[in-house]
Amino acid sequence: MPRRVARSDREEVLQPAIARYLDSLLPSRDPVLAEMERLARLEGIPIVGPACGRLLALLVAVSGARRIFEMGSAIGYSTLWLARAAGPAAKVYYTDADPRNLARARAFLRRGGVLPRVKLLEGDALALLRRTSGRFDLIFVDVDKDQYPAALRLAVPRLRRGGLLVADNVLWHGRVAAKVSPGDVFTRSILRFNRLMYAPKELFAVIVPLRDGVAVCRKA
Ligand SMILES: C[S@@+](CC[C@H](N)C(=O)[O-])C[C@H]1O[C@@H](n2cnc3c(N)ncnc32)[C@H](O)[C@@H]1O
Repeated sequence: MPRRVARSDREEVLQPAIARYLDSLLPSRDPVLAEMERLARLEGIPIVGPACGRLLALLVAVSGARRIFEMGSAIGYSTLWLARAAGPAAKVYYTDADPRNLARARAFLRRGGVLPRVKLLEGDALALLRRTSGRFDLIFVDVDKDQYPAALRLAVPRLRRGGLLVADNVLWHGRVAAKVSPGDVFTRSILRFNRLMYAPKELFAVIVPLRDGVAVCRKA
């Protein structure tokens, strides 16, 4: 069984004081994002949070991404950041295996004003990417961590040249830099993902050590 991270050991990579300082700088969010953040806190839903949400929005804005595929969308929090940044002409693919998440995401995305630009897909994100034709400007990976290496292999050929592969949790609560037990499939998968990301010449990879680590790669 892949090792899931218990809530109590969900410390972030940043020193707590630095994380608090960064949070203190963040402008308040609109009522929809704020409600999603409250729900995530209440139910322990692992959303990217506002600092990484802003990073996603910035990446969309500077790259001009319009066709976006998200792998692992939960209640649609990161989807809302991506879809707002991409504008009304965008098409953002939401994917999640849990139908309850999808129903909640639909309601939030409607209230957030972006539902017409979002295609909601239920099922396995990797299978859904295989079934969705065409190339993407940006693919965001946030599925279960044991699936990261397969997600990368699948996603890179589906990006246009100059497109971005973005992935959350690539520092995995600091475990990437600690001794890894043989049964810790999630950490081993993240380590493999990070090596795969830096290896090929066609990818230019950077890890931003924000929150739990965000990978950003540009496909040449
Ligand atoms: C970390 S949460 C996503 C959070 C979301 N990206 C955000 O920041 O708002 C991961 C989600 O991916 C879903 N998931 C995990 N593996 C999946 C897979 N292979 N296919 C589809 N959904 C998956 C889970 O149901 C969960 O809701």
